[in-house]
Amino acid sequence: MTAVSELILTRTVADLRAQVVALRNAGRRIGFVPTMGALHEGHLALVAEARRRSDAVIASVFVNPTQFAAHEDLGTYPRQEARDAELLAGAGCSILFAPDAAEMYPQGFATSVQVGGPSEGLETDFRPHFFGGVAVVVAKLLNQVQADVAVFGEKDYQQLMVVRRMARDLDIPTEIVGAPTVRDDHGLALSSRNAYLSADELAVARRLNGILREAGERAKAGEPAAVVEAAAAEALIEAGFAKVDYVAIRRAEDLSAFSGAVDAPARILAAAWLGKTRLIDNLAA
Ligand code: PAF
Repeated sequence: MTAVSELILTRTVADLRAQVVALRNAGRRIGFVPTMGALHEGHLALVAEARRRSDAVIASVFVNPTQFAAHEDLGTYPRQEARDAELLAGAGCSILFAPDAAEMYPQGFATSVQVGGPSEGLETDFRPHFFGGVAVVVAKLLNQVQADVAVFGEKDYQQLMVVRRMARDLDIPTEIVGAPTVRDDHGLALSSRNAYLSADELAVARRLNGILREAGERAKAGEPAAVVEAAAAEALIEAGFAKVDYVAIRRAEDLSAFSGAVDAPARILAAAWLGKTRLIDNLAA
C-alpha cells in the first residue's frame, strides 16, 4: 500500500478490504467509481458525483482483459497510472484500487456472469464477448469494494442498464447511479479512445452528437423509429464515418425497441467507426 498525496493506492483485494473496514469503522458512507484508467474529465465528473453521494470515494483502475476480444485494443489501450493517481487525488478520491490481472483472475478462475435483458442487441451484436466481461469484473469489484453507491457514466448507456439489472438480479446492495456524459466544446463525448483519432477523424467525430440530436428531434416529432434510424446512419456515412454498426432508438427504461413512432421516453444510441477507432454515443430522445 502506498500513498500519492492524500490518495491511498492498494493493489490487492486483502489491502482493499482492510481499507474498507477502516472506513466503515469510522462510520463513512462509501462511493465507488470503476474505471479502466486513462482518466479524463468524464471520469472526474463520476468521482465528483460519487463524492456528492458519499463521504469517501474509492476508484478502481483495471484494464479488464475479459471485456476485450482477441482482435481488440487490449494491448494498446492507454495506460497512465501515475497521471491517473494524480488526477484522482486532485478530485478528492480517497483510495485507488489498481490490481493486476492475476489478482482479479487468479489461476483456475472459472466463473462467468451472463446478464440477459438489456444486454441483448446493440453492443452485443458487434461485441458478443463484451457484457460477459463487464458483468464479471463489475460483480467482482462491487463485492470487493462493498460501496453504498457506485457511479457509472451514461456515455456507456447499455452498460449502465446491464450493471443495474445485474445488481438488482444478484441482490448486490450497492446503489447504481448513472451520471451524464461529459462532452467537449463541440459536443463530442469524452472517451479514452478519442486519443486514437487523427485531427481529420476528430473533426468527423464531432459531428456524431449533432446527427444524433437531429435524429432525436425527428423522433420526438413523430417519425417512425426505423425511418429516423436509417436517416441518421446515412448522415453519419455522409459526414465521413467509415462504417456504422448501429443507430437505434430504444425505450430509455429497458432498451426495448419501438415498433412505430416513439411513444415513451427514449434513448438514441449509436456506434460508428473512424479508421480503426470505434466510437459510441447516446442521447435522451
Ligand atoms: O466503463 C468502463 O470503463 C468499464 O467497462 C468498467 C465499468 C470499468 C468495467 O471494466
